[in-house]
Amino acid sequence: MRVALLGYGTVGSGVYELIQKNTTAVKTNFDRKLEVVKILVKNLDKYKSHEAYHLFTNDFNDLKNADIDIAIETIGGISPTGDYLKHFLSHGIPVITANKDLIAEIGSELIEIAREHNTILSFEASVGGGIPILKPLQESLAGNEIKNISAVLNGTTNYILTKMYEDNMGYDEALSLAQSMGFAEADPTSDVEGYDAMRKLVILSTIGYKKHIRWTDLPLEGISRVTARDIAFAKDENYKIKLIAFSEDMGDAIYGTVRPVFITQQSKYAKIDNEFNAVLVEGDAVGELMFTGKGAGKYPTASAILGDLMDIIQNKKILPSYIYQDEVKIIKHYPKEAK
Ligand code: HSE
Repeated sequence: MRVALLGYGTVGSGVYELIQKNTTAVKTNFDRKLEVVKILVKNLDKYKSHEAYHLFTNDFNDLKNADIDIAIETIGGISPTGDYLKHFLSHGIPVITANKDLIAEIGSELIEIAREHNTILSFEASVGGGIPILKPLQESLAGNEIKNISAVLNGTTNYILTKMYEDNMGYDEALSLAQSMGFAEADPTSDVEGYDAMRKLVILSTIGYKKHIRWTDLPLEGISRVTARDIAFAKDENYKIKLIAFSEDMGDAIYGTVRPVFITQQSKYAKIDNEFNAVLVEGDAVGELMFTGKGAGKYPTASAILGDLMDIIQNKKILPSYIYQDEVKIIKHYPKEAK
Protein backbone atom coordinates (compact mmCIF):
# COMPACT_ATOMS: atom_id res chain seq x y z
CA MET A 1 0.00 0.00 0.00
CA ARG A 2 1.60 3.19 -1.18
CA VAL A 3 0.79 6.05 1.16
CA ALA A 4 1.01 9.78 0.44
CA LEU A 5 1.31 11.93 3.52
CA LEU A 6 0.07 15.51 3.22
CA GLY A 7 1.62 17.60 5.98
CA TYR A 8 4.47 16.79 8.35
CA GLY A 9 3.68 18.80 11.48
CA THR A 10 2.90 17.32 14.89
CA VAL A 11 0.32 14.83 13.63
CA GLY A 12 1.89 14.10 10.22
CA SER A 13 5.27 13.22 11.73
CA GLY A 14 3.47 11.06 14.32
CA VAL A 15 1.75 9.14 11.53
CA TYR A 16 5.04 8.66 9.68
CA GLU A 17 6.75 7.35 12.83
CA LEU A 18 3.88 5.00 13.70
CA ILE A 19 3.87 3.60 10.18
CA GLN A 20 7.62 2.91 10.38
CA LYS A 21 7.24 1.39 13.83
CA ASN A 22 4.16 -0.70 13.14
CA THR A 23 4.77 -1.88 9.64
CA THR A 24 5.61 -5.36 10.87
CA ALA A 25 2.32 -5.58 12.79
CA VAL A 26 0.41 -4.45 9.73
CA LYS A 27 2.21 -7.01 7.61
CA THR A 28 1.52 -9.78 10.08
CA ASN A 29 -2.13 -8.96 10.61
CA PHE A 30 -3.20 -8.18 7.09
CA ASP A 31 -0.41 -9.35 4.89
CA ARG A 32 -0.02 -5.89 3.42
CA LYS A 33 3.08 -3.76 3.55
CA LEU A 34 2.67 -0.04 4.11
CA GLU A 35 5.09 2.32 2.47
CA VAL A 36 5.12 6.12 2.62
CA VAL A 37 6.03 7.19 -0.92
CA LYS A 38 5.49 10.97 -0.86
CA ILE A 39 5.34 13.65 1.83
CA LEU A 40 3.90 17.04 0.91
CA VAL A 41 5.20 19.99 2.95
CA LYS A 42 5.37 23.76 2.52
CA ASN A 43 9.01 24.33 3.38
CA LEU A 44 11.35 21.66 1.99
CA ASP A 45 14.45 23.15 3.63
CA LYS A 46 13.22 22.17 7.08
CA TYR A 47 13.59 18.49 6.20
CA LYS A 48 17.05 18.45 4.58
CA SER A 49 18.48 16.21 7.29
CA HIS A 50 15.45 13.89 7.46
CA GLU A 51 16.28 10.22 6.80
CA ALA A 52 13.60 10.16 4.10
CA TYR A 53 14.29 13.57 2.55
CA HIS A 54 13.95 12.07 -0.95
CA LEU A 55 10.22 11.52 -0.25
CA PHE A 56 9.53 15.16 0.56
CA THR A 57 8.10 17.59 -1.96
CA ASN A 58 6.47 21.02 -1.88
CA ASP A 59 4.68 20.49 -5.19
CA PHE A 60 1.25 18.85 -5.19
CA ASN A 61 1.80 17.84 -8.84
CA ASP A 62 4.39 15.33 -7.61
CA LEU A 63 1.59 13.60 -5.71
CA LYS A 64 -0.76 13.76 -8.67
CA ASN A 65 1.83 12.02 -10.82
CA ALA A 66 2.79 9.37 -8.27
CA ASP A 67 1.29 5.91 -7.94
CA ILE A 68 -0.66 6.23 -4.67
CA ASP A 69 -3.11 3.86 -2.94
CA ILE A 70 -4.04 5.99 0.09
CA ALA A 71 -3.75 9.69 0.98
CA ILE A 72 -3.44 10.84 4.59
CA GLU A 73 -4.07 14.53 5.18
CA THR A 74 -2.75 16.34 8.26
CA ILE A 75 -2.27 19.83 6.81
CA GLY A 76 -5.46 21.34 8.22
CA GLY A 77 -7.48 24.28 6.91
CA ILE A 78 -10.01 24.43 4.10
CA SER A 79 -8.03 25.80 1.18
CA PRO A 80 -6.09 24.42 -0.68
CA THR A 81 -6.51 21.24 1.40
CA GLY A 82 -10.10 20.68 0.25
CA ASP A 83 -8.97 20.72 -3.40
CA TYR A 84 -6.22 18.20 -2.69
CA LEU A 85 -8.71 15.83 -1.10
CA LYS A 86 -11.19 16.28 -3.94
CA HIS A 87 -8.42 15.33 -6.37
CA PHE A 88 -7.72 12.03 -4.61
CA LEU A 89 -11.36 11.10 -4.03
CA SER A 90 -12.35 11.87 -7.60
CA HIS A 91 -9.58 9.50 -8.72
CA GLY A 92 -10.95 6.74 -6.50
CA ILE A 93 -8.13 7.05 -3.93
CA PRO A 94 -9.23 6.68 -0.30
CA VAL A 95 -8.48 9.60 1.98
CA ILE A 96 -7.92 9.73 5.73
CA THR A 97 -8.05 13.11 7.42
CA ALA A 98 -7.86 14.60 10.90
CA ASN A 99 -9.26 17.88 9.58
CA LYS A 100 -12.40 18.79 11.54
CA ASP A 101 -12.66 22.25 9.98
CA LEU A 102 -12.90 20.67 6.55
CA ILE A 103 -15.36 17.96 7.60
CA ALA A 104 -17.60 20.43 9.44
CA GLU A 105 -17.58 22.75 6.40
CA ILE A 106 -17.59 20.49 3.33
CA GLY A 107 -17.70 16.95 4.74
CA SER A 108 -20.91 16.01 2.93
CA GLU A 109 -19.59 17.31 -0.41
CA LEU A 110 -16.41 15.25 0.02
CA ILE A 111 -18.36 12.12 0.93
CA GLU A 112 -20.59 12.64 -2.09
CA ILE A 113 -17.46 12.66 -4.30
CA ALA A 114 -16.11 9.57 -2.52
CA ARG A 115 -19.39 7.72 -3.15
CA GLU A 116 -19.46 8.64 -6.81
CA HIS A 117 -15.97 7.21 -7.22
CA ASN A 118 -16.46 4.15 -5.06
CA THR A 119 -13.88 5.13 -2.52
CA ILE A 120 -13.90 6.31 1.08
CA LEU A 121 -13.18 9.28 3.28
CA SER A 122 -12.32 8.42 6.89
CA PHE A 123 -12.04 10.99 9.65
CA GLU A 124 -12.02 9.26 13.04
CA ALA A 125 -9.06 11.46 14.08
CA SER A 126 -11.07 14.63 13.53
CA VAL A 127 -12.97 14.22 16.81
CA GLY A 128 -11.56 13.31 20.22
CA GLY A 129 -7.94 12.68 19.11
CA GLY A 130 -7.13 9.08 20.02
CA ILE A 131 -10.63 8.18 21.29
CA PRO A 132 -12.53 5.88 18.94
CA ILE A 133 -15.91 7.59 18.79
CA LEU A 134 -17.16 8.14 15.24
CA LYS A 135 -16.94 4.47 14.31
CA PRO A 136 -18.67 3.25 17.50
CA LEU A 137 -21.40 5.85 16.90
CA GLN A 138 -22.19 4.64 13.41
CA GLU A 139 -21.33 0.95 13.73
CA SER A 140 -21.60 -0.54 17.23
CA LEU A 141 -24.39 1.86 18.22
CA ALA A 142 -26.28 1.68 14.92
CA GLY A 143 -29.26 0.06 16.66
CA ASN A 144 -29.84 3.12 18.81
CA GLU A 145 -31.51 6.41 18.44
CA ILE A 146 -28.96 8.77 19.93
CA LYS A 147 -30.76 11.18 22.25
CA ASN A 148 -28.00 13.47 23.41
CA ILE A 149 -24.26 13.97 23.35
CA SER A 150 -22.28 15.88 25.94
CA ALA A 151 -18.54 16.20 25.84
CA VAL A 152 -15.22 17.82 26.56
CA LEU A 153 -13.87 18.07 23.02
CA ASN A 154 -10.91 20.41 23.07
CA GLY A 155 -7.62 19.35 24.62
CA THR A 156 -6.03 22.79 24.54
CA THR A 157 -8.74 24.56 26.53
CA ASN A 158 -9.06 21.66 28.95
CA TYR A 159 -5.31 21.81 29.48
CA ILE A 160 -5.42 25.59 30.06
CA LEU A 161 -8.33 25.32 32.51
CA THR A 162 -6.59 22.48 34.37
CA LYS A 163 -3.31 24.41 34.71
CA MET A 164 -5.12 27.58 35.83
CA TYR A 165 -7.03 25.58 38.43
CA GLU A 166 -4.41 23.10 39.67
CA ASP A 167 -1.23 25.18 39.39
CA ASN A 168 -2.56 28.76 39.54
CA MET A 169 -0.95 29.28 36.15
CA GLY A 170 -1.82 32.39 34.12
CA TYR A 171 -3.95 31.99 30.99
CA ASP A 172 -1.15 33.01 28.58
CA GLU A 173 1.44 30.76 30.16
CA ALA A 174 -0.94 27.79 30.09
CA LEU A 175 -1.77 28.47 26.43
CA SER A 176 1.95 28.63 25.49
CA LEU A 177 2.50 25.32 27.25
CA ALA A 178 -0.43 23.73 25.37
CA GLN A 179 1.09 25.02 22.14
CA SER A 180 4.53 23.63 22.99
CA MET A 181 2.97 20.23 23.76
CA GLY A 182 1.45 20.15 20.27
CA PHE A 183 -2.20 20.32 21.40
CA ALA A 184 -3.21 23.70 20.01
CA GLU A 185 -4.21 24.51 16.45
CA ALA A 186 -1.80 26.55 14.32
CA ASP A 187 -4.02 29.51 15.16
CA PRO A 188 -5.18 28.81 18.74
CA THR A 189 -8.14 31.20 18.31
CA SER A 190 -10.24 28.28 17.18
CA ASP A 191 -9.36 26.38 20.37
CA VAL A 192 -9.87 29.17 22.89
CA GLU A 193 -12.96 30.67 21.23
CA GLY A 194 -14.61 27.25 21.07
CA TYR A 195 -14.80 26.87 17.26
CA ASP A 196 -12.79 23.67 17.36
CA ALA A 197 -15.06 22.10 20.01
CA MET A 198 -18.15 23.29 18.13
CA ARG A 199 -17.01 21.75 14.83
CA LYS A 200 -16.37 18.47 16.61
CA LEU A 201 -19.76 18.61 18.33
CA VAL A 202 -21.41 19.15 14.96
CA ILE A 203 -19.56 16.21 13.38
CA LEU A 204 -20.61 13.98 16.29
CA SER A 205 -24.19 15.26 16.23
CA THR A 206 -24.55 14.91 12.46
CA ILE A 207 -23.42 11.30 12.65
CA GLY A 208 -25.33 10.59 15.87
CA TYR A 209 -28.69 12.13 14.95
CA LYS A 210 -28.43 11.68 11.17
CA LYS A 211 -29.37 15.29 10.69
CA HIS A 212 -27.02 17.72 9.11
CA ILE A 213 -26.25 20.67 11.34
CA ARG A 214 -24.18 23.72 10.44
CA TRP A 215 -21.66 24.59 13.16
CA THR A 216 -22.25 28.29 12.70
CA ASP A 217 -25.93 27.91 13.67
CA LEU A 218 -25.32 26.96 17.29
CA PRO A 219 -24.60 29.33 20.21
CA LEU A 220 -20.98 29.30 21.25
CA GLU A 221 -18.68 30.75 23.88
CA GLY A 222 -15.02 29.84 24.37
CA ILE A 223 -12.76 30.24 27.40
CA SER A 224 -11.02 33.52 26.55
CA ARG A 225 -13.25 35.38 29.02
CA VAL A 226 -12.62 32.97 31.90
CA THR A 227 -10.67 34.97 34.48
CA ALA A 228 -8.49 34.13 37.51
CA ARG A 229 -11.46 35.37 39.55
CA ASP A 230 -13.75 32.75 37.98
CA ILE A 231 -11.18 30.08 38.81
CA ALA A 232 -10.90 31.33 42.42
CA PHE A 233 -14.71 31.28 42.72
CA ALA A 234 -14.81 27.71 41.36
CA LYS A 235 -12.23 26.62 43.93
CA ASP A 236 -14.06 28.31 46.81
CA GLU A 237 -17.30 26.57 45.88
CA ASN A 238 -15.59 23.25 45.14
CA TYR A 239 -16.49 23.43 41.45
CA LYS A 240 -14.34 23.06 38.37
CA ILE A 241 -14.72 24.87 35.05
CA LYS A 242 -14.93 22.83 31.85
CA LEU A 243 -15.65 23.82 28.27
CA ILE A 244 -18.68 21.62 27.69
CA ALA A 245 -20.18 20.76 24.31
CA PHE A 246 -23.77 19.56 24.46
CA SER A 247 -26.42 18.68 21.93
CA GLU A 248 -29.79 16.99 22.07
CA ASP A 249 -32.10 15.63 19.41
CA MET A 250 -35.56 16.88 20.30
CA GLY A 251 -37.30 15.13 17.44
CA ASP A 252 -38.36 18.07 15.34
CA ALA A 253 -35.37 20.21 16.30
CA ILE A 254 -31.81 20.12 17.58
CA TYR A 255 -30.44 21.98 20.55
CA GLY A 256 -26.69 22.42 20.81
CA THR A 257 -24.11 24.66 22.41
CA VAL A 258 -20.48 24.94 23.51
CA ARG A 259 -19.64 27.02 26.56
CA PRO A 260 -17.69 27.09 29.84
CA VAL A 261 -19.64 25.51 32.66
CA PHE A 262 -19.16 25.17 36.43
CA ILE A 263 -19.29 21.48 37.27
CA THR A 264 -19.32 19.73 40.62
CA GLN A 265 -16.59 17.36 41.76
CA GLN A 266 -19.15 14.55 41.36
CA SER A 267 -19.66 15.33 37.69
CA LYS A 268 -18.53 12.72 35.18
CA TYR A 269 -16.20 15.37 33.74
CA ALA A 270 -14.49 16.27 37.04
CA LYS A 271 -11.58 13.91 36.40
CA ILE A 272 -11.24 14.71 32.70
CA ASP A 273 -8.21 16.98 33.03
CA ASN A 274 -5.31 18.24 30.93
CA GLU A 275 -5.52 17.25 27.25
CA PHE A 276 -8.03 14.50 27.93
CA ASN A 277 -11.40 14.55 26.17
CA ALA A 278 -14.60 12.72 27.06
CA VAL A 279 -17.74 12.01 25.09
CA LEU A 280 -20.92 10.94 26.84
CA VAL A 281 -23.53 9.50 24.52
CA GLU A 282 -27.07 8.49 25.43
CA GLY A 283 -28.75 5.93 23.18
CA ASP A 284 -32.33 4.74 23.61
CA ALA A 285 -31.28 1.08 23.75
CA VAL A 286 -27.84 1.14 25.31
CA GLY A 287 -28.35 3.96 27.83
CA GLU A 288 -25.35 6.14 28.70
CA LEU A 289 -21.86 5.42 27.45
CA MET A 290 -18.73 7.39 28.16
CA PHE A 291 -15.66 7.42 25.94
CA THR A 292 -12.52 9.02 27.30
CA GLY A 293 -8.84 9.36 26.43
CA LYS A 294 -6.25 11.77 25.06
CA GLY A 295 -8.05 14.19 22.81
CA ALA A 296 -5.05 15.96 21.31
CA GLY A 297 -1.37 15.43 20.65
CA LYS A 298 0.96 13.72 18.23
CA TYR A 299 0.61 10.01 18.92
CA PRO A 300 -3.03 9.86 20.12
CA THR A 301 -4.16 11.55 16.90
CA ALA A 302 -1.80 9.44 14.79
CA SER A 303 -3.25 6.37 16.52
CA ALA A 304 -6.73 7.23 15.23
CA ILE A 305 -5.35 7.72 11.72
CA LEU A 306 -3.63 4.34 11.81
CA GLY A 307 -6.94 2.79 12.84
CA ASP A 308 -8.59 4.25 9.73
CA LEU A 309 -5.68 2.96 7.70
CA MET A 310 -6.30 -0.56 8.98
CA ASP A 311 -9.93 -0.34 7.82
CA ILE A 312 -8.81 0.62 4.35
CA ILE A 313 -6.20 -2.13 4.24
CA GLN A 314 -8.94 -4.60 5.15
CA ASN A 315 -11.00 -3.13 2.33
CA LYS A 316 -13.79 -2.03 4.64
CA LYS A 317 -15.86 0.31 2.54
CA ILE A 318 -17.87 1.89 5.29
CA LEU A 319 -18.49 5.49 4.44
CA PRO A 320 -19.44 7.74 7.31
CA SER A 321 -23.12 8.55 6.96
CA TYR A 322 -22.77 12.24 6.72
CA ILE A 323 -25.05 13.40 3.96
CA TYR A 324 -28.35 14.54 5.33
CA GLN A 325 -29.96 17.20 3.27
CA ASP A 326 -33.07 17.89 5.34
CA GLU A 327 -33.40 21.29 6.90
CA VAL A 328 -32.87 21.02 10.63
CA LYS A 329 -34.60 23.34 13.03
CA ILE A 330 -32.23 24.67 15.68
CA ILE A 331 -33.35 25.63 19.19
CA LYS A 332 -31.06 28.21 20.74
CA HIS A 333 -32.47 28.13 24.27
CA TYR A 334 -32.78 24.86 26.10
CA PRO A 335 -36.45 24.25 26.94
CA LYS A 336 -37.01 24.29 30.71
CA GLU A 337 -39.12 21.14 30.66
CA ALA A 338 -36.44 19.06 28.84
CA LYS A 339 -33.88 16.94 30.69
N1 HSE B 1 -6.44 21.68 18.90
C1 HSE B 1 -7.17 20.47 19.13
C2 HSE B 1 -7.41 20.32 20.61
C3 HSE B 1 -6.38 19.32 18.58
O1 HSE B 1 -6.75 21.02 21.39
O2 HSE B 1 -8.24 19.52 21.02
C4 HSE B 1 -7.16 18.05 18.45
O3 HSE B 1 -8.20 18.16 17.54
